[in-house]
Amino acid sequence: MPRIYLSPPDISPRDHASVAAVLTSNWVAPAGPALDAFERDVAARAQRAHAVALNSGTAALHLALQILGIGPGDAVVCPTLTFTASANPICYLGAKPVFVDSERRTWNMDTVRLREALETCPDIKAVIVVHLYGQCAEMDAIAALCREFAVPLVEDAAEALGASYGGRPAGSMGALSFFSFNGNKIITTSGGGMLLSNDAEHIARARYLATQAKEPVRHYEHKAIGYNYRMSNVLAGLGQSQLADLDRRITVRREHFEAYRTALGDLPGVEFMPIAEPDAANYWLTCLTLRPEACGCSRDDLIEALEAIDIEARPIWKPLHQQPVFTENRVFGGRVAEDLFRRGLCLPSGSSLSAADRTRVIDVIRAYLESHAG
Ligand SMILES: Cc1ncc(COP(=O)(O)O)c(C=O)c1O
Repeated sequence: MPRIYLSPPDISPRDHASVAAVLTSNWVAPAGPALDAFERDVAARAQRAHAVALNSGTAALHLALQILGIGPGDAVVCPTLTFTASANPICYLGAKPVFVDSERRTWNMDTVRLREALETCPDIKAVIVVHLYGQCAEMDAIAALCREFAVPLVEDAAEALGASYGGRPAGSMGALSFFSFNGNKIITTSGGGMLLSNDAEHIARARYLATQAKEPVRHYEHKAIGYNYRMSNVLAGLGQSQLADLDRRITVRREHFEAYRTALGDLPGVEFMPIAEPDAANYWLTCLTLRPEACGCSRDDLIEALEAIDIEARPIWKPLHQQPVFTENRVFGGRVAEDLFRRGLCLPSGSSLSAADRTRVIDVIRAYLESHAG
């Protein structure tokens, strides 16, 4: 039987046609009509005035922090429970990440710990909030704290395209925000990202830095160090057709979450990631935790049992304050993230996962946990 992946790309004949149309147009460069249209469409979806398409979400965060003036000697808050790309760009600029623990309610940044960090570290110059696994963080409280301490907020919405918070789209709330279109995300351009803001100057500056900081003159003139960070027009063509399918993908991923929870939620020691606003998440990945004393097995035991029959499951992100590269960094709290990592895993959740394959995953997990429960 073919391997079941965690969150593989979902490519349809419509995507083939969209990319073929771009190739036929000969706009095969990091400029062109598909890029303009993709930027416009993502900005509209996120209710943002301006957007620039880039070759990764990481590049988007790097530019966001640079535009906010982050540099050597500064500190930037980042949740500890996230992918390392949420923190790496802080270090590219010579600044230091300050990590903040998660709350149990959404697994996102704990606002009590955030306040502690802001009160303790006067060198904090920005806050990055992450919407983990497609569920928005407590944005009202986080934005209020940022206002109180007069630090700008950057929204890492890499995993949360199509999600919302109190009716506001993910990516519409920080001074700057970004999405990722990496191959495992809810829509993909193979690799890619987009930086968004309501501030035209921010996005104009990002566009300039992303294209080698070329001055608008006939010859090649440079007054700043730039980057080669733009998205290809070919990939924007893929992004356009993928974006048109976003709502169906959210529906399918939500069906996966609900089917897993219905079929497995009654097993002793199994708890699904709490969803605070069920209609607001994009259900990027279905995540759960195991209580080993009730299940009779660990998170890794279950992942290995799935792997043995070619089903890919992954641990929850390892907290960044536990990563060897960040052991010297300040952290506020950390026990919640450590616990979620120790006990948490993500199940196959792709929008191309068939109901039959999902049943296969469910049957294996149920049989394994039933045979191990004390
Ligand atoms: C939370 C988070 N932030 C940032 C990124 C970086 O995005 P990219 O892979 O497009 O650079 C990712 C995904 O890869 C992510 O999951």
